[in-house]
Amino acid sequence: MTFQHSSAVSVVGLGPMGAALAETFLGKGISVTVWNRTPGKADTLVAKGAHLAATVDEAMAASPFTIACINDYPTMYRVLDGAQGGLRGRTLVNLNSGTPSEARAMADWAAEQGLDYLDGAIMVPPTLVGGPGSVFLYSGPQDLFARHRATLAELGDPRFLGADPGLAVLYNTALLHFMYAHMNGFLHAAAMVGSAGVPAAEFAELALGWFAPVVLDPAGLASQAPSLDDGAYPGELGTMVMNLNALEHIARASAEQGVNTAWPTLMQELAERVIAQGHGEDNYFSMFEAFKRP
Ligand SMILES: NC(=O)c1ccc[n+]([C@@H]2O[C@H](COP(=O)([O-])OP(=O)(O)OC[C@H]3O[C@@H](n4cnc5c(N)ncnc54)[C@H](OP(=O)(O)O)[C@@H]3O)[C@@H](O)[C@H]2O)c1
Repeated sequence: MTFQHSSAVSVVGLGPMGAALAETFLGKGISVTVWNRTPGKADTLVAKGAHLAATVDEAMAASPFTIACINDYPTMYRVLDGAQGGLRGRTLVNLNSGTPSEARAMADWAAEQGLDYLDGAIMVPPTLVGGPGSVFLYSGPQDLFARHRATLAELGDPRFLGADPGLAVLYNTALLHFMYAHMNGFLHAAAMVGSAGVPAAEFAELALGWFAPVVLDPAGLASQAPSLDDGAYPGELGTMVMNLNALEHIARASAEQGVNTAWPTLMQELAERVIAQGHGEDNYFSMFEAFKRP
């Protein structure tokens, strides 16, 4: 079955992200109806051709489907409570951030209201919406996703993750964690060498110009990912005991240099835990065993 591109979309929520979504649709020639708690934020969009709805009801009735992008799930309930005309038969794609259980609870609540509901998450900042590299994640009923896929593709590559409505925000939080861990690694390392008077810009040249691309090569990491599924971590090229030695040096060097030791100490403790569990002769990916449990 093929589904047609929708000629009209409603956007609820006009913070920086909701405004970027609405503007992208407008730029693609799609008719856009918007609603926001603070209506003045719609002025620029209205000047570009958007219709301003007086109520969330009116917005949801104006288009085959509505995209919501407000700050969080608790607020989303409050906004939808304002839909006096009822939600039965409407379609909502919710793109606010949150947790998997919040997304699942909202999907259950939507089903009780007779609202067709798809959950999603946005993986790019507002400036990149609709451009190359823009990716949006979706989870929930696959037929609903398929029905609106062509229109959602205007915002970015739409990746459907599965029927569990919590998957999009679970991926979102996991990927954000991955991003923060990368940035924090650089920032902590910069603080370490900075303690000896090395400018961060000078360190960045070596750390980001050479070290990260070679040692953190994504293709190399991806090639090892299947070992996480298999639970097999052969340590011929380097063992967890060897890595613990390095982690202990990082923690001690941080202390000696007078920088924060919380993170390196935690990594050292986790490495000690997996070694105690019998992974001393396995490779570093056996740290996965420590992260899988509380
Ligand atoms: N900005 C980004 O880089 C980015 C990237 C990825 C994902 N996201 C996600 O996208 C969502 C929206 O983000 P954002 O950057 O646009 O800004 P935001 O500050 O998270 O959300 C602003 C929107 O929430 C509305 N809102 C807040 N409290 C409300 C309430 N009590 N009742 C009704 N509406 C309320 C605001 O309405 P008013 O205008 O009336 O205050 C506005 O429409 C968030 O979940 C965010 O995590 C953002």
